[in-house]
Amino acid sequence: MPAGFLGMRFQSQPAFDDGFRVAGTSTSTHDATWEQPWGERRYVRDRHNELLVTFDSAQGAARKFNVRVRVFDDGFGFRYEVPQQPGYDAVNITDELTEFRLDPDATQEITAWWIPGRRWNRYEYPYLTTPLDAVHMAHTPMTVRLPGGLHLSFHEAALVDYAAYVLDHRRPGIFRTSLTPWSDGIRVKTRTPFTTPWRTVQIAPSAAALLNSSLILNLNEPNVLGDVSWVEPGKYVGIWWAMHINRATWATGPKHGATTAETRRYIDFAAANGFKGVLVEGWNVGWDGDWFHNGKLFNFTQANPDFDLQAVTAYARSKGVRLVGHHETSGDVGNYEPQMPAAFALYESVGVRQVKTGYVADAGDVRRIDDNGVEVHEWHDGQFQVGHHLRVLREAAKHKISINAHEPVKDTGLRRTYPNWISREGARGQEYNAWGNPVNPPEHVAILPFTRMLAGPMDYTPGIVDLDGFSPQHRVPHTLAKELSLYVVLYSPVQMAADLPENYAKQPVAFQFIKDVPTDWDESVGVAGEIGDYVAIARRQRGSPDWFLGALTDENARSLRLKLDFLEPRARYVAEIYRDGPQADWKTRPHDLVVEKRNVTAADTLELALASSGGAAIRFTQAR
Ligand code: NOJ
Ligand code: CA
Repeated sequence: MPAGFLGMRFQSQPAFDDGFRVAGTSTSTHDATWEQPWGERRYVRDRHNELLVTFDSAQGAARKFNVRVRVFDDGFGFRYEVPQQPGYDAVNITDELTEFRLDPDATQEITAWWIPGRRWNRYEYPYLTTPLDAVHMAHTPMTVRLPGGLHLSFHEAALVDYAAYVLDHRRPGIFRTSLTPWSDGIRVKTRTPFTTPWRTVQIAPSAAALLNSSLILNLNEPNVLGDVSWVEPGKYVGIWWAMHINRATWATGPKHGATTAETRRYIDFAAANGFKGVLVEGWNVGWDGDWFHNGKLFNFTQANPDFDLQAVTAYARSKGVRLVGHHETSGDVGNYEPQMPAAFALYESVGVRQVKTGYVADAGDVRRIDDNGVEVHEWHDGQFQVGHHLRVLREAAKHKISINAHEPVKDTGLRRTYPNWISREGARGQEYNAWGNPVNPPEHVAILPFTRMLAGPMDYTPGIVDLDGFSPQHRVPHTLAKELSLYVVLYSPVQMAADLPENYAKQPVAFQFIKDVPTDWDESVGVAGEIGDYVAIARRQRGSPDWFLGALTDENARSLRLKLDFLEPRARYVAEIYRDGPQADWKTRPHDLVVEKRNVTAADTLELALASSGGAAIRFTQAR
């Protein structure tokens, strides 16, 4: 990668661009292992070399900034550190000038997987697979494959008190970090001293190797919350899919989903099948009518008359289940923030440990009241929302509550610092298969692991087992085995069993895997994959010798030969394989599922035949 530009511009002070010289450098090395309270792996090794470069303006030392670079085996990150200096107390950043440069002569040969940045639907676009040349503005992670087969993924780590960036393709092959602005056009409002998030490039010789990177986590600060034993990974069910397929409504009325009786039914279902949580959406005052535009009316402490919060939570407690709370804001953060302390206190008082938040609003339409009392409109990934999410996390932590944010800002690894940030959306999830125009293509989940998932966990909400379709245009474009594989492929410490209880009753075999699969892991291994075509990931259950593997393919049937060398050498395992049956095809026979048992060891190679948009989900139980 030829050298790119560094620097930033300010509204009222001379820019950091021309006229700087290297004033000094220092290096250091680091090699330590740290532990995650929950995660895709328990121990994370942070081994890097560091270079700190101090720059000052050639004419005297009036202006100065540092760039800190950390180089790992799987990529690098760098950030700006701007010391306090005369004339730069309060600064408004109008542009960051960081550039990533790829070979300008190879933009036709480099393939990019990306979603457009700064468009109305936030991060919820089908991924595009194009020559680099066709990228205009892209969200990160954006992943590219160079002609020689090297894979690079561009992203950022530790996005705190700053704006997220999108990659702005300027001259051929040259990408600038375009910071998302505030409503008044300023990109970042801060004071010296400050540091920027890390600008990161993950580098791997193959697509599958990219899956094993912990670089983003390594560039975040350690846990600041102390004891987080109250953060509970696990599976949940809920009053959710029924609304998305139009069988129930969020709003009150004859089809209201969030009723006391219906919640009790889900609590019974959860308790009978070992699920820890029951999510209930549409429970509170404000969801009525055109809730998309009613953000101002949401009341986060008042339940609708047909939902008895005290009664359902008491019932849940009696069954060993917890209500999963829900705060939909419709993007009206101005209405939500003042209510947060009381809302989280209420949920804590009834035993809620996890709250899903939501910011359904077009990008650039998050409302807040500014210092002059005027309503202004912010981006989901601007500095305001970046700060809002941390305010939510801190308030929630006071009440031992974890947050799963939908319509969030992108993940930059802050779960390390705030382990109560358990999951988020930030890509097209399952709901698009219910009403999306179009639904997610079969390749979508073969792209996510190499793009969005490199940032961190996603609440995709897998596990739909009624695959026949909800309208002529809407169905889940997967086989049943592929739906099961998602529990392993798409990592999240909280995973939903998203379908209706009555649908699980019709698919007891598939449901068994959903009941068995854990959500917290000691180890994770990218076994095989090509972006957009197929992927196989293996994970070892936290505190157990047992492994799980998920494999899936795009619309093309294919067979995979997978080495089982991730298993413990010499140990014997029973592999319980949930795979596509002989007739399986996502369009014509999505439910054709076969379960078979085989004895295997780490020395074996497993041949898996995946149907068109099919998959496989495997549980390896160690012989004890
Ligand atoms: C969008 C979320 O992604 C979805 O899960 C939720 O049901 C709706 N918003 C309503 O809050
Ligand atoms: Ca493909």
